[in-house]
Amino acid sequence: MQSEQDWQKWLTGLPKCELHLHIDGSLQPERLLKLAKKNSVALPYHSVEEIEAAYDFENLQSFLDLYYLGASVLRDEEDFYHLMRDYLLKCREQNIVHTEIMVEPQTYFPQGVSLQTMLSGFESAIQEARKDWGQSTLLILSFLRHLSEEEALTLLKEVEPYREHFVAIGLASSELGHPPEKFERLYAQAQEQGYRRIAHAGEEGPPAYVWGALDLLKVHRIDHGVRSAEDEKLMQRLAEEQVPLTVCPLSNIRLCVFPEMKQHNLLHLLDAGLCVTVNSDDPAYFGGYLNENFFALHQDLNLTQEQALRLVRNGFNASFLPQAEVQRHLQAVDEYSAAAA
Ligand code: ADE
Ligand code: ZN
Repeated sequence: MQSEQDWQKWLTGLPKCELHLHIDGSLQPERLLKLAKKNSVALPYHSVEEIEAAYDFENLQSFLDLYYLGASVLRDEEDFYHLMRDYLLKCREQNIVHTEIMVEPQTYFPQGVSLQTMLSGFESAIQEARKDWGQSTLLILSFLRHLSEEEALTLLKEVEPYREHFVAIGLASSELGHPPEKFERLYAQAQEQGYRRIAHAGEEGPPAYVWGALDLLKVHRIDHGVRSAEDEKLMQRLAEEQVPLTVCPLSNIRLCVFPEMKQHNLLHLLDAGLCVTVNSDDPAYFGGYLNENFFALHQDLNLTQEQALRLVRNGFNASFLPQAEVQRHLQAVDEYSAAAA
């Protein structure tokens, strides 16, 4: 019988990837306060403790209100560099060898931040991490679904000169009341431009939103998708087509999608043959980065090493990396698990 400490050490050393991470969700309270001071942004919080006390969410919207307030402190290239750098340093610490990061330019537009400012800062940190420790990173252009499709189409057009920075498009923010059909034209145009496609669906929204993401938006992956378990036909479809679900356990508990980790359905989805992956979503707000998500699954759902390996392999297979790189990462996983056996 392995101790908790040994299991955590094993999981920490395992090369992993992360496919569902909002860069603004990695804004740590210390950095948030520092940037608020630097940029003279008045906040209702004055200490790390006060910010952390606000991480007591009732649902997705109560979290998003704080998340957008937090992101409003980011103003210049250096701020975006630090935000990305902080997260990529966590990747190194946690052995997240490949990460696909959602960036949401519409979040910064009210503060007058340009695409160029945001991307220059992010790209400096990404290139530095690639050079310093071989960090593999892809960016996903994520749209805010509480805004209009017209605004999304305008942004897609504005991003054309920066097309090579993004591998895919995504859809995030308030899910209920903003179904996939609202963004059918956006996804059709993005498909024509060669973007891969993902969307949040079935986090708070019903299984119908997952069907919509698959059939109308033609997505390659579903972000969250945990409510798919309510629809047997949908479960069959997801299993048959091996559509990856990027599940975020700690997020689901903090946003009250499940009352506690012991009631999370991740193992049910995995046992039903779905391509489930584990991710952190907004780690600064939800009490843990990727490894802590795995630790929680081990502690509360008795996640085994074999199941953890399956989840990690699913992650690499579900990534948007070229096949040769996927194989290289899978081989590293195999070598690690053989050496640790
Ligand atoms: N944006 C950041 N985190 C999110 C989540 N969990 N669901 C929808 N939009 C988000
Ligand atoms: Zn998310």
